Amino acid sequence: MRTVTGIGEMKALVAEWRAAGRTIGFVPTMGYLHEGHLSLVRGSKKRCGATVVSIFVNPAQFGPGEDLQRYPRDLERDAAMLEREGAEALFVPAAEDVYPPGYRTYVEVHGLQDRLCGRSRPGHFRGVATVVLKLFNIVRPDVAFFGAKDAQQALIIEKMARDLDLDVEIAVCPIVRDPDGLALSSRNAYLSPEERKAATVLSRSLAEAERLVRAGERDAARLVDRVKDIIAGEPLARLDYAEIVEGETLEPAVEVRGDTLVLLAVFIGRTRLIDNARIRA
Ligand code: PAJ
Repeated sequence: MRTVTGIGEMKALVAEWRAAGRTIGFVPTMGYLHEGHLSLVRGSKKRCGATVVSIFVNPAQFGPGEDLQRYPRDLERDAAMLEREGAEALFVPAAEDVYPPGYRTYVEVHGLQDRLCGRSRPGHFRGVATVVLKLFNIVRPDVAFFGAKDAQQALIIEKMARDLDLDVEIAVCPIVRDPDGLALSSRNAYLSPEERKAATVLSRSLAEAERLVRAGERDAARLVDRVKDIIAGEPLARLDYAEIVEGETLEPAVEVRGDTLVLLAVFIGRTRLIDNARIRA
């Protein structure tokens, strides 16, 4: 595996591969890798001739007072994991190269970016879309892999790719969970043992919503109430939002019908976790 820090060097390396007829798969991450990230790398390895993984803790997507400074980092361990998976390149650009002094250009995906996590974290998705477009322009992937764990993010990237005529296929891969249901996240590293137990409240409340839908419940307000009750029953949890929306537009749903998303953001202690369930009813 080649570890690359220079933007020019990364462009040159993928240009070589493309000239040799290899398709390029790309997995953008912020590092501190876990099985969720690795599932994307495996998805790329399966479909593409060369897999590039980026690790960049993107300052533009963190708000003031968020965890940019203390976001977990372990580049050595991440590189060893990617080596084992057979990734061809690890791209680790420097913040000064991605956002040099005087940087002025940002991407916004209106409508989709302002709800849900975008309401709790103003400017977050502008930072995500901007860095992902920049990374796409550097790596020029044929296929880019994203996790369904960040459902709103995946939708925003898909929309950006369509709206800006990007020649990239966006592949969205299933959520990887621990055996007790907790969705894997780099931020799980913040949790104390007690909080780690409490954190299962997210997947438990989603599982209950799915069960109720299977049992015939279609009323979004009643389902959301049930989810909120379960979260309120966990003393270490504080709800940020729980919403049921249409799967494509993220518009609030009155009834569960067709492609529907149940989305949650919950603080466990000081740590904000997200999870979601896609329901096709
Ligand atoms: P990060 O949180 O590191 O996640 C990188 C990718 O891994 C995202 O596509 C995310 O959805 C996916 N992922 C995380 N946990 C997962 C899980 N449990 N199961 C499946 N996939 C999972 O998301 C970001 O970084 C950043 O916003 C980024 C897109 C890199 C832009 O900075």
